[in-house]
Amino acid sequence: MELHVVCHPLVDDVLAALRDRRTEPAEFRRLAHRASLLVAAEATRDLPTRETEVETPLETTRARLLGPRVVAVPVLRAGLGMLDAFLELVPSAEVGYFGLERNEQTAVARRYYEKVPRELGEAVVYLLDPMLATGGSAAMALEGLQGRGAREVRLLCIVAAPEGVAYLEKTCPGAQVYTAALDRQLNDRKYILPGLGDFGDRLFGT
Ligand code: PRP
Ligand code: URA
Repeated sequence: MELHVVCHPLVDDVLAALRDRRTEPAEFRRLAHRASLLVAAEATRDLPTRETEVETPLETTRARLLGPRVVAVPVLRAGLGMLDAFLELVPSAEVGYFGLERNEQTAVARRYYEKVPRELGEAVVYLLDPMLATGGSAAMALEGLQGRGAREVRLLCIVAAPEGVAYLEKTCPGAQVYTAALDRQLNDRKYILPGLGDFGDRLFGT
């Protein structure tokens, strides 16, 4: 499995504010958007392009367009906080959804919704989920996408725990993971430390 931790001063700056317990939901949403732009820019850096021609006001020139079909799949709910940023960078992306929810007692994820575009085999699929904690949710979504034919899947996170990375290494060795931060560990309730708390709750004010 490939792990990319995005190293950039703007990432540090946005993470400091996202982690701050005093950040209210409206501001948290703006910060999640900014962090997602930075992670998504890094995770799209190597996408192939194809040649085209455009007419500028002065002459015709060669230019390049994004090559592959791109599909974005946010994991409900928290992944919705990353979707607008991704679509800002890749407006042509198709969008699918996975609804996953961790049981509060066991931290085991349960799938409650799934709607993804067909024929994922030739697409580059971006799974959007800001928190990689135990890795159970991400593994379930990655396996679901692979079961629908996806061959190239990239998971975009904002905060990842070493336990989740190790779990994906074992269960989804072909996955590529991009994260703004790799934190220290999980606590006994399977929350990331230092982390930023419950991303979905902070995003939606629940
Ligand atoms: C959060 C988060 C991930 C999951 C990560 O979702 O958005 O999907 O937990 O934890 P894991 O790696 O241990 O599986 P949650 O289940 O809290 O649902 P929500 O987004 O609806 O709040
Ligand atoms: N989900 C979250 O939102 N936060 C964590 O720390 C772990 C899982």
